[in-house]
Amino acid sequence: MRVAVITGGAGGIGAATAQLLLKRGWRVAIVDINIDEVATWPNETENCLYPIQSDVRTKSSAGVVCEQVVERWGRLDLMVNCAGVNRHAPFEKLTLDDWQFVLDVNLTGTFAFMQAAALHMLKNQKGSIVNISSIAGARGVPDRCAYAATKAAIDSITRSAAVGWATRGVRVNAVAPGFTETPLVRRYIDNGNIDINQIHSMTPMQRLASPSEIATAIVFLASEDASFITGQTLYVDGGYMAEYGIPSS
Ligand SMILES: NC(=O)c1ccc[n+]([C@@H]2O[C@H](COP(=O)([O-])OP(=O)(O)OC[C@H]3O[C@@H](n4cnc5c(N)ncnc54)[C@H](O)[C@@H]3O)[C@@H](O)[C@H]2O)c1
Repeated sequence: MRVAVITGGAGGIGAATAQLLLKRGWRVAIVDINIDEVATWPNETENCLYPIQSDVRTKSSAGVVCEQVVERWGRLDLMVNCAGVNRHAPFEKLTLDDWQFVLDVNLTGTFAFMQAAALHMLKNQKGSIVNISSIAGARGVPDRCAYAATKAAIDSITRSAAVGWATRGVRVNAVAPGFTETPLVRRYIDNGNIDINQIHSMTPMQRLASPSEIATAIVFLASEDASFITGQTLYVDGGYMAEYGIPSS
């Protein structure tokens, strides 16, 4: 059975990806600061699901987690870096602490887990890494500048790792979701940080994505069907990035 590690896998897009992989016969380790929900999942007792409570900011987390998973299941085929946070403030008011917090979770956490997973994958000359980027990484986002910066940097380290490992059996790609109906986005809609009508009007498909629509793209990039795809950021955004902004007549 193939084995995946998913950071931020207890909620939203990460949980949808875990559920899809489990349905397709994978073993999945979930790394999250809050794993209570995972205990209620049906596959919890079948030795296919391994919830690990860990903060991706902890220096030893990535190395320890990947070691534990390989020790338990003997292999590591897929690393999905999904743990992500945001801090809202106008550019000129964002504190250095908030800036650092977002960088630590989104970017350094992703880097550390890419590196730790790749150590095992490169040894076997086989594996795939999928990082979660965002449409925000390719746009100016004044109230979420730290978040946007981490997502642009994730696209960059995705390319660097991909070309570095291209002849060594390890593919690295990113999925950049548009606005997706997850607990994170639901919170922003409820507290007024996101105007749902504005999002609909900016998205050619005029709706949010479901977490499972993002999960299918992640699982595709991880699969053999994507065997010649590496270093790419795949936008899964209902047409958001393709839109020029002039309404059709
Ligand atoms: N929802 C969207 O519209 C959207 C759009 C573009 C990109 N994304 C990206 O997709 C990813 C998942 O987002 P989501 O909407 O599912 O969010 P979510 O908040 O629903 O889930 C994120 C998960 O990450 C976990 N997490 C947070 N900090 C952590 C840490 N330090 N260590 C370990 N786990 C941690 C949370 O507990 C949670 O389970 C994020 O990287 C986000 O930036 C989301």
